[in-house]
Amino acid sequence: MSAPGPAHVAIIMDGNGRWAQKRGRPRLYGHHAGARRLREILEACPDLGVKYLTVFAFSTENWKRTQAEVSGLMALFRRYITREAQAMVEAGVRVRFIGDRVRLDAKLVALMDELELMTAHNHLLNLTIALNYGGRDEVARATKRLAREVAAGKIDPEGVDAETLAGFLDTCVLPDPDLVIRTSGEARISNFLLWQAAYSEYEFVDTLWPDFTRAEFQRVVGGYGARDRRFGAVPA
Ligand code: FPP
Repeated sequence: MSAPGPAHVAIIMDGNGRWAQKRGRPRLYGHHAGARRLREILEACPDLGVKYLTVFAFSTENWKRTQAEVSGLMALFRRYITREAQAMVEAGVRVRFIGDRVRLDAKLVALMDELELMTAHNHLLNLTIALNYGGRDEVARATKRLAREVAAGKIDPEGVDAETLAGFLDTCVLPDPDLVIRTSGEARISNFLLWQAAYSEYEFVDTLWPDFTRAEFQRVVGGYGARDRRFGAVPA
């Protein structure tokens, strides 16, 4: 009998820029196509038994891109949240954001807070959007918060273990991802969910994100059942 499908899928949506360049269009054109693709993949999740979808929208390193691309992406996020909010509420999607909000524009943060609040009672699907997110940055911020608790005498340092630290991560209420997918042919993790993906299965596909169809998603999610996850143990 094959194993159940992945409850939590995380995706590095890579290849928007190349997709646009292949068409002789600016990179932002690819990001807009990527946003449309995200909606399709999101809609496919409930039927596939995926309860958690986490997507990498903007990394702590993406600020190194041109000012035009960064501000275009920020405008796209504002627009996406504004336009999709009602649809998310009606579709039963609970939206959360992970990442450091300090560097983000106040207007965008207000929209993020509002969408989290508006969808807080939904439970068909949990969508987590990583925005200004970096795995190392997340662990550093979590460590800082934990250190404050230790300094305040609220936590005994001798009792600190992996579970304690996990409780301070942005993802503290989420299960670890079962499957991490990266599109566009690059086989690296790029600072995404470093802690949480310790035992995840990985799937690297050549397709550029704007071309990643529901059918291909279905195939990748379907293939997960054949994997033998041991979490470091010896098979029985
Ligand atoms: C990586 O492709 C993609 C990004 C840095 C942006 C991801 C954003 C979206 C898919 C937009 C939709 C998301 C939301 C939440 C509305 P790349 O630009 O690095 O591609 P390249 O490697 O071909 O240059």
